[in-house]
Amino acid sequence: MMKNYEQIKSLLKTKGQEHLLNGFDSLDQTEKEELLKGISAIDWELLEEKSVERNGEVEPLWGLTLKEIKSRYQEFEEAGAKLLREGKAAAVMLAGGQGTRLGSSAPKGTYDLGLTKPVYIFECQIKNLLEVVNKYVARVPLLIMTSDKNDGATREFLKEHAYFGYPQEDLFFFTQDMAPCTDFNGKVLLEGRGKIALSPNGNGGWFSSMQRAGLVEKMKKRGVEWLNAFSVDNVLQRIADPVFLGATYLSGNACGAKAVRKNSPEERVGVLCKRGGFPDIIEYYELDEEMANARDKEGELLYGNGVILNYLFQISALEEVAFRKFPVHRVKKKVSYYDGEKLVAPQTENAYKYETLILDLIRLLNGCLPFEVEREREFAPVKNATGVDSVETARALLKKNGVEL
Ligand code: UTP
Repeated sequence: MMKNYEQIKSLLKTKGQEHLLNGFDSLDQTEKEELLKGISAIDWELLEEKSVERNGEVEPLWGLTLKEIKSRYQEFEEAGAKLLREGKAAAVMLAGGQGTRLGSSAPKGTYDLGLTKPVYIFECQIKNLLEVVNKYVARVPLLIMTSDKNDGATREFLKEHAYFGYPQEDLFFFTQDMAPCTDFNGKVLLEGRGKIALSPNGNGGWFSSMQRAGLVEKMKKRGVEWLNAFSVDNVLQRIADPVFLGATYLSGNACGAKAVRKNSPEERVGVLCKRGGFPDIIEYYELDEEMANARDKEGELLYGNGVILNYLFQISALEEVAFRKFPVHRVKKKVSYYDGEKLVAPQTENAYKYETLILDLIRLLNGCLPFEVEREREFAPVKNATGVDSVETARALLKKNGVEL
């Protein structure tokens, strides 16, 4: 409920955020109302929460290697194809991020990687999914998660491009929640007159946002049992992959995670593991040297499955945990802010965003199957404009996979 000026003033005092009312008198009536409304809507708990310490013994998590997948390929493919044909799988594109590292304010999926013709990120992904839909004569609902910041632009772009041929009756959109940004001292930032600086609250809340939008119920009515959640920025993303689906299903796990073998013990990627008996992702900076170098009897790294943000989840398992509280991660990012006179676009990271992460969802589940994929065929993330995981590296990998640019 919207609070009045006096209530807001005393609330802000208790939170150490009185600066938000500096210059209040110079705002016009609409801006004043917008500011009071924005402050009333802040979830202070989110800003106050610290990332949860994770305890429990860390152990390797057994997963399917490329070799094992190859030897059981047909069995997995058949099981997955059956589920696809029965309409039991849907794809969820996590496209609510802002892509600040790429440096464009447009939705990341609209980025054009083409050199002689347009090749958009959305196009690459939808094309990959359509290949599956056509090959297995299946209907796979595609649910696109956006945020308030990019929802309009995403929908317009896709409409303009006739959804790259995806059947409209199988296409759904939903938006995720937003969270305020703060400076490094925890002070909430403004992004304009009367406007709190908001950013998408991370990719961890996708399932609860889907629930709120009524899309979980809708999918269940259609007979969907599995959701394949994936990031928008991997242009080689294989979506609704029947082999992955079949393998996860046959393993009896409620979750599967595509993973690439780490290049070297030092590579800086999160790897799948077990912690306190539950599946987990251990960050590269948590791995000590001994663990990073530990190998199995085949000589493979024991903690060598780097996650690529392509997961399968059984809806029934998600429903049991989605209501639980997720830890909030404070992430340093560049956030443009209003300094009382003008909008300032910082050159370096200046603010914290508050995000929940999809990996914290995996920790709540009983099991997760690591499923190894070939890096060169399935992993070309576009995170930066140049250098590592960039437009350049993604272009090179697309070419390697026969995509004309
Ligand atoms: P990243 O962690 O790379 O974040 O997202 P980002 O916001 O896209 O990019 P940077 O860090 O600002 O440069 C990984 C995936 O999660 C989605 C992104 O769209 C991407 O597919 N995501 C991220 C969301 O859907 N919502 C969010 O709030 C954050």
